[in-house]
Formats: sequence, C-alpha cells, structure tokens
Amino acid sequence: MLVAERGQSLDALLAAETGKPQERGLLRSLCYGTLRWHIRLSAILAQMVSGPATRLEPEVRALTLVGLFQLLHTDIAPHAAVSETVNATRVLDEPRAASLVNAVLRRCQREGKALGEQVDANPAVRTAHPRWFVEQLDVDWPSDATSILDANNGHPPFWLRVNRQRTTPADYLDRLLAAGMKASLSAHAPEALLLAEAVDVKSLPEFAAGWVSVQDAAAQLAAHVVKPQAGHRVLDACAAPGGKTCHMLELEPELAEMVSVDASGERLERLQQNLTRLRLKGTVVKGDAETPESWWDGQPFDRILLDVPCSATGVIRRHPDIKLLRRAADIPALAERQGNMLERLWPLLRPGGRLVYASCSVLRAENAGIVEPFLMRHREAMDVTGSLPLSWPPAGQQYGEREPGRRLRPGEASMDGFYYACLQKSHG
Ligand SMILES: C[S@@+](CC[C@H](N)C(=O)[O-])C[C@H]1O[C@@H](n2cnc3c(N)ncnc32)[C@H](O)[C@@H]1O
Repeated sequence: MLVAERGQSLDALLAAETGKPQERGLLRSLCYGTLRWHIRLSAILAQMVSGPATRLEPEVRALTLVGLFQLLHTDIAPHAAVSETVNATRVLDEPRAASLVNAVLRRCQREGKALGEQVDANPAVRTAHPRWFVEQLDVDWPSDATSILDANNGHPPFWLRVNRQRTTPADYLDRLLAAGMKASLSAHAPEALLLAEAVDVKSLPEFAAGWVSVQDAAAQLAAHVVKPQAGHRVLDACAAPGGKTCHMLELEPELAEMVSVDASGERLERLQQNLTRLRLKGTVVKGDAETPESWWDGQPFDRILLDVPCSATGVIRRHPDIKLLRRAADIPALAERQGNMLERLWPLLRPGGRLVYASCSVLRAENAGIVEPFLMRHREAMDVTGSLPLSWPPAGQQYGEREPGRRLRPGEASMDGFYYACLQKSHG
C-alpha cells in the first residue's frame, strides 16, 4: 500500500520478493486486494480514526487497511485476520500500534456493514476509484461507466496466446484439457484460450519450448488489426516487452523485417527473452518514438503498430495500483506525447500502408481524442477500422457514431479495455 502511495509499481516490487510460493501467493493477493479496495477501505477507516490524536503513521495505516481488507473481502477467519494483523505491528517501531489496530479491526467486525453503507453513497468510494476518473468516465462513457467501474474490481482472467508456428489453438486446448486444466477458445481473438484458473506458466504444456504465451485477448487483437503480410517491413514502435511483436511474427513468419523499438533498455531485454523462447527473429532497437530521425534508416514501413504509453486505465483489474498512482494531471501530458508520437511516425509509413494506433486506456483524450484531430490535419489518412474483417465483440457504446477507431470496454467478452484505430495512408 505504502509503495503505491509513494508512487512505486507493485508489480516491480513483488517480482523482487522471495519466499515460499504459497506465502508469496497470499502476499500477492493481500497486496492486490487491498489496493483494489484501498479508496473504500480508507473511507471506512476514516470513520473510525480521525483527528490529530489518533492520526496513524503510514506503516500502521497500511497494515490496518490490509486487516480491513481481510475482514471485508476475504474468507480468512476474522479472528485470524485480527490476530495476525495485530501481531504484525510488532515489527513496527510504534508502541501504540497494537492496541489501535486491534480496536479498529474489532470495531469493523462488529459494525463493518453499517460503516460500509455510510461511505457507499458516493459512487467513487463505493467502487474504490479516484473521483477524477469516475467523473471522466461519466463524460466519456455515460451509459457504460458503472459496468466499467465494476469490471475494474473483478479478478483478471488468465488468457493464453497459442503460437501458430508450433501448434493450433484447438490442439493446444486438447493438451490443456488432457492435463486437467479447464480452458475455452475465444470468439474474437483467434489464438486466445481462456483458462478457468490462473496457473504457474511453468506447468503449461511446452511453455519453455515457446508453444504458448500469456497475453490478454484484447491485446491479441492488435496483430489482427495490423495484419502484416509476407514481404512486409513492419515497425512496432513501443514494442517492449514484445507481446504484439511476437504475435505478429508468429502469424506471419515471412516478413521482410520486424523492427521493434522501445525507449526502455530493461524492457527490451524482456522482449529479447520472449523472442528467444518463442524461437522468433526480429530487429530490436533502443530508441525514442518521438525522435525517429535518431534511429530510422530511411526505409519506409508497410505496417506500423503504435501501442502508446498510456494511463493503462483499461487494465485496472490487472494493476489496481493504477487507481492510486495515476493522477488527473497525467492525462494531458500523456496525450501530448501520444499525439506527438503519431505525428512523428506517420512519415515513416509508405503510401498505401497502414498505421495502427493502440492504447489500453479507456479515456477518450488518449484515444479518439488523439486520432480525430490527426485525421483532420492529414487528409491523406483514412480510418479503416470499421471495415476490417474482424470479429469484434458486439459493439459497446462508442464515443459517437462518427468517431474513429474501435474501443473495447474492460470486461467485454472477458477482455481488457483497449482502443484500436487502423489508419490507411492514401497513394496520392
Ligand atoms: C503499452 S507498453 C507497450 C506494450 C507492447 N506493445 C507489448 O505488446 O508488449 C508502452 C511501451 O512504450 C515504451 N515507451 C514509452 N515512451 C517511449 C518513447 N518515447 N519511445 C519509445 N518507447 C516508449 C515503454 O517503455 C513501454 O514499453
């Protein structure tokens, strides 16, 4: 909790955690769950602890929230949740902590329901989202806002992408079933399999041999929107850790070249590891998508995928710390960079080629808000997303009938929230 409150990513910190797998699993579920409900748990805590005399030190506060999460959202026996949380105060240098935490948690045991009802009148608190985000959703997705907020609090499903260079989705499904893992095919993403339960990837048949990868079905649509053909030169402009680069190479092994660019050397190492495990080949370049002149060799591309760095508000169910890390003021700054990347990369596309703008944001400012003014400025660019032969889920609410691109609501067909706009450059 503290880590997210202080602006650090939970994924990065948990990845460094060692210990027994079972303990790490519990740690992970307590951290993710408490962050998922942090805003509501904090509101409930504020009803019990207020005023300077009872102000909690940050560590004590974070621990108390973990205790409240266990009482209100898990099957952990309440007496165990209280005693373990109180015991945990011993490692803190806070003499009052044990009695305070004990008093708060015992009151929650007695009055939790009533305390919850009092804070739930406010939809941002009820759904544990920052107020700026709820207000923006009401503007951007008025009739879907509630279902998005609810979907963000669900447990993320476990999607796999089958490598067509090694097997077929139907065959791999049979292997999973034979191994006792329940799974099903997607109606929308052709290589996607939905596992009924999350598993350790090492237990997946032929994972090390590159038969399969973990990737949400919404992200898997990218390779089908880009649809590179044999002989094409393809640019993946913000490519790391390489999920979409690898998927495009799996679908079309006869590309002239796949150039994968990213600004982060650390993330490019993960891209390289993915290429190696999946036995794929590509050109990996450390570079800035906003300054292509520093790395582009002048040869035009037939296809460009621009999967922009964004607010990630379409994947909150996977990364609940986004609720605390992201601020309203981040959005205009992100939008400026996204618009700049699109503008700077467009000249790298050959006439007749296609550029796909993608984001895992649900906010209009980062999606149609970027693409629409771009189309106004560039008469040689045409939005062809609507005419792609793809099996999108039944259209959710779009921004407006005339707005470019296609957006996917988080939770729609069990997929993450995503946005795609496929832009074709005219020959003229
Ligand atoms: C949404 S992630 C890309 C995910 C990737 N397409 C995949 O499917 O695995 C955005 C990426 O943009 C990269 N990035 C951020 N700013 C950049 C810039 N100015 N130029 C190039 N890459 C950038 C980040 O390092 C991050 O890896």
